[in-house]
Amino acid sequence: MQTLRDLPALRSAVQMLKSDGKPLVLVPTMGALHDGHMALVEEARRHGRHVVVSIFVNPRQFGPNEDLAAYPRREAKDAQMLQTAGVDILWAPTVEIMYPAGYATNISVTGISDGLDGAARPGHFDGVATVVTKLFNQVQPDIAIFGQKDYQQLAVIRRFVADLNLPIEIVGLPTQRAEDGLALSSRNAYLSDEERKAALALPRALGEAKRQIEKGEPVAGTLAQAIASLAAHGFGPIDYVSLCDAATLEPMAVLDRPARLLGAAKLGTTRLIDNIAIDPV
Ligand code: PAF
Repeated sequence: MQTLRDLPALRSAVQMLKSDGKPLVLVPTMGALHDGHMALVEEARRHGRHVVVSIFVNPRQFGPNEDLAAYPRREAKDAQMLQTAGVDILWAPTVEIMYPAGYATNISVTGISDGLDGAARPGHFDGVATVVTKLFNQVQPDIAIFGQKDYQQLAVIRRFVADLNLPIEIVGLPTQRAEDGLALSSRNAYLSDEERKAALALPRALGEAKRQIEKGEPVAGTLAQAIASLAAHGFGPIDYVSLCDAATLEPMAVLDRPARLLGAAKLGTTRLIDNIAIDPV
């Protein structure tokens, strides 16, 4: 595996890889890799012969009071994991390469970015859309793979890829979970032992809400119960527990089409998100 940090080296390595005509797959990450990321890499290897993983902790997707400085960084361990998994290139640009002096361009996706995390974290999806567009232009993959844990992020990426006619297939992989059901996330590393146990209340609240809504209980009351259950387990503030259209992420008051139950809340200083599919029965 080659670890590359500057664009001319990346461009020539990608050109070499692509010369055999086999698809090139990109897995964008912010590092601190866990089994969830490694499942994306495995999927990438199934889709194509050539795999590029990017590690870049993108300052533009963190708000002023968020965890940019504290975000876990451990590139040496990540590189070992990627090498063992058979990745061809680790693309690990510096902030100066990604956003050189004078950088002035922003990619903003309206509508689908506005609610949920977009409302709770103003500017977050502009940061994501901007860096992912840049990663696509830098690596020029045929396919890119993302996890469904960041469901709104995946929807935003699908939107701008379609809107900008980018010739890239976007693959969304189901959320990888620990044995007890907690969604894998680099931010789980922040949780104390006690918080790690309490964190299970998030997938459990979503699962219980799904069962109630499928049984025909009113959506608003069920979501309120899920919020109360999170609060009782020490979560707060709770940004949202919401039932949304699976494609547009418009809030839904009645389960009459394929939907997603999504939740986001803080436990201590750690913000956790999760989501599950729910369909009319
Ligand atoms: O999901 C992430 O790790 C990040 O948001 C991404 C897609 C790598 C963009 O920085």
